[in-house]
Amino acid sequence: MESMPFTLSIDQAKVIRSQHGTPVYVYSEAALRARAAEALAFPHSFGLTVRYAMKAAPSAFILRLFHNLGLHFDASSGYEVRRLLMLGIPGDRISLSTQELPEDFPELYKLGVSVNACSLHQLERFGKALPGGRVGLRFNPGQGSGGTNRTNVGGVASSFGIWHEYAATAQEIVQKYQLQVFRIHTHIGSGSDPAVWLKVALLSLNMVRLFPDVTVLNMGGGYKVARMPGEKSTDLQTVGAPVRDSIADFASETGRKLHFEIEPGTYLLATSAGVLSTIQDMADTGPQGYAFVKLDTGMTEILRPSLYGAQHPIEVFSSLPNTRTRDYIVVGHCCESGDILTPAPGDPEMLAPRSLPEPAIGDLCWIGGAGAYCAAMPAKNYNSFPEAAEVVLLQSGATKLIRRRQSLQQIMQNEILD
Ligand SMILES: Cc1ncc(COP(=O)(O)O)c(C=O)c1O
Repeated sequence: MESMPFTLSIDQAKVIRSQHGTPVYVYSEAALRARAAEALAFPHSFGLTVRYAMKAAPSAFILRLFHNLGLHFDASSGYEVRRLLMLGIPGDRISLSTQELPEDFPELYKLGVSVNACSLHQLERFGKALPGGRVGLRFNPGQGSGGTNRTNVGGVASSFGIWHEYAATAQEIVQKYQLQVFRIHTHIGSGSDPAVWLKVALLSLNMVRLFPDVTVLNMGGGYKVARMPGEKSTDLQTVGAPVRDSIADFASETGRKLHFEIEPGTYLLATSAGVLSTIQDMADTGPQGYAFVKLDTGMTEILRPSLYGAQHPIEVFSSLPNTRTRDYIVVGHCCESGDILTPAPGDPEMLAPRSLPEPAIGDLCWIGGAGAYCAAMPAKNYNSFPEAAEVVLLQSGATKLIRRRQSLQQIMQNEILD
């Protein structure tokens, strides 16, 4: 489903700045609800669970909203599990797939949390601690996808999951500890191409064949979303239909009716929020150089452009009468040459000037498409800038503060000063 990134009107932006200051993340309740409804309508044959990959944006407001809408959760660490439990979200709504299995995983398991063993070592640890237990297996099915090398989570260059050729070793460990493998999990960041989803579904079903107790297939997240004009968003109905059919065919062939799970993070959040900032300076490097717009935000709120050369829509609310358009490099507020909001697509080393209306210092600027992996993944406290506030634009039109701006005292609170 094509959905343009959520944005603000100039009047809304002015009100939010006067109430909460800048930089501030602004989430749209309407967009969050709409994306959740689309995910819950994912095609399936024998039942569906949508797990929100909370690493995308873990604020309590978002977790509670999705919980109330019937979503379950994918946690990436023991800390994320505890964060959900602290909000009163029951353990049986939580699945843990982690690179670092926490010490207390047996306790989490007893609270109802399901665990995907993501390596042979994790499986061995699970078996030793919980012989006879129910466990999921995350496999790397040998196929990769994903926008950049850093977001590719399948294939030989990825450490996520048990390499598919080691399934026999996994079976031996399962036998040794009499484990019940109830779920096969694959997450390769498959993107928006239905042919790739079908291929990964078939590879995943081949893994299911090896484990007769499996009743659940989880194919992770990775549904690409258009942030910029011209980019293509995943149509969940289009990618889901062949996957649903392959699960139905598998049932006709084997009699096994698999429950299906998806774990979107990006899909639910990417276009549901942005960062409102203030233009705090401008500079240029002469006729052969560049014109720069300097924001009061940057990698401290939106790290993705610096990491991946990710592209975000940028809207300048210019206060100049009859403003003309000009090419600008938009930079963040850190003393760091990589703090750039207009890198070349996919190449954080290069600059890509963006055509924007000429602004005045003090004008507002909106960075769109900043709901996923932004508030959750910042260059936090670099240059001692405090973590930004987060607000939600409610469906009623009112705004609600959901996270206060950090104070300098909070930045320093764990330092031993004497
Ligand atoms: C296991 C797992 N599930 C789901 C996701 C969510 O992916 P996305 O935000 O691309 O939908 C991730 C992201 O890294 C993941 O590792």
